Amino acid sequence: MRYDAGMKNDSLANAPIALLGGLSVEQFLNEYWQKKPLLVRQAIPGFKGLLSPDELAGLACEDDVQSRLVSIKKNRWQVESGPFDEARFNRLPEQDWTLLVQGVNHHLPEAAELLQQFAFIPYARLDDLMVSFAPDAGGVGPHFDSYDVFLLQGEGQRRWRISEQDDLSLVPDAPLRILQNFVTEQEWVLEPGDMLYLPPHVAHWGIAVGNAMTYSIGFRAPSAQELASEFLNFLQDRLKLTGMYADPGLQQQVHPAEIGKEMLEQVAGMLNRIRWQSEDVTAFLGHYLSEPKPHIVFDAADDLDETEFQELLTEQGLALDAKTQMLFHGHTFFINGEQFDVPAAQLAFWTQFANQRQVGPEWFDDGQLQDEALLQRLHDWYQAGYVWID
Ligand code: SIN
Ligand code: CO
Repeated sequence: MRYDAGMKNDSLANAPIALLGGLSVEQFLNEYWQKKPLLVRQAIPGFKGLLSPDELAGLACEDDVQSRLVSIKKNRWQVESGPFDEARFNRLPEQDWTLLVQGVNHHLPEAAELLQQFAFIPYARLDDLMVSFAPDAGGVGPHFDSYDVFLLQGEGQRRWRISEQDDLSLVPDAPLRILQNFVTEQEWVLEPGDMLYLPPHVAHWGIAVGNAMTYSIGFRAPSAQELASEFLNFLQDRLKLTGMYADPGLQQQVHPAEIGKEMLEQVAGMLNRIRWQSEDVTAFLGHYLSEPKPHIVFDAADDLDETEFQELLTEQGLALDAKTQMLFHGHTFFINGEQFDVPAAQLAFWTQFANQRQVGPEWFDDGQLQDEALLQRLHDWYQAGYVWID
């Protein structure tokens, strides 16, 4: 069966799914997720990929697409960043290179649909769909990622070698992370539709067998350091500490250049008053995880006034743009870095919109959402390209 967003209930969590090789979501999460690799033969039977190598190269030429060309020449790795000129692809050698394109789900509706099959993992963990193309024997070398990743084979075949080795030392001075001492522990050749799940830090090495395209569904796992520094950044705009440094009892110091003990103690006392609540953490996470990456550009929709927009809503419903991230906690919702609270009466609507990433016309045509502020908000987002009339 297919797993659909928002379908979680106990019987579905227990139902075997083909995508996970007949495991249920519950079994997969308990036994494999973040724990050990899983090879699934024919996870998506008949899957041949979603775009051709030429179309992938076309995406890599666009300004708002992140792409890399990794090549190896005389044992030296080289990484070029896109966007590329079309001419760059005409000058490529027969072999020894890989083209990697990030965020393909933002540009291809079929790719966004593919990601929906992975909705058993929270959207807050999803990074993106990266697609690679390599001619025979190509690849990006042995490495490890800090990500959980499902490596789904599209066109062609790829030989995957993996290792759960502890030695993760890297080749010094290489422009990408290449493991110095990779020791193959397991090896498989993946055919179209086969999939390999890898938890973070499992060493892997994918080698194209003939022309090969791989679809990497990646889930981010931010480091504690990254979260802390982003949180402190976020907190500084919300902090309100009263008072100021004062030293009415100042005594002359022996060394005027010395930072005195009294000064240190007073400042330490001020900093110790920095506090935050769980609402600050919620707000931070919602903003941080829903904020579009800096290169993302939303395309403005057709110009519809509010009345025309409302009319279309009642006929066709509304969908989130593929680049839009909508998340929530309780009644607090986040869309592309903006926060808003929803009234209890609208919670079912907003929850469905966030989970399914679309809402049908039935929500709008029976008067249950007759809320001027809500319609205004949806219209604003429509004009910003955050949402689309389906
Ligand atoms: C690739 O698709 O070539 C690389 C994917 C990976 O190793 O993470
Ligand atoms: Co990798």
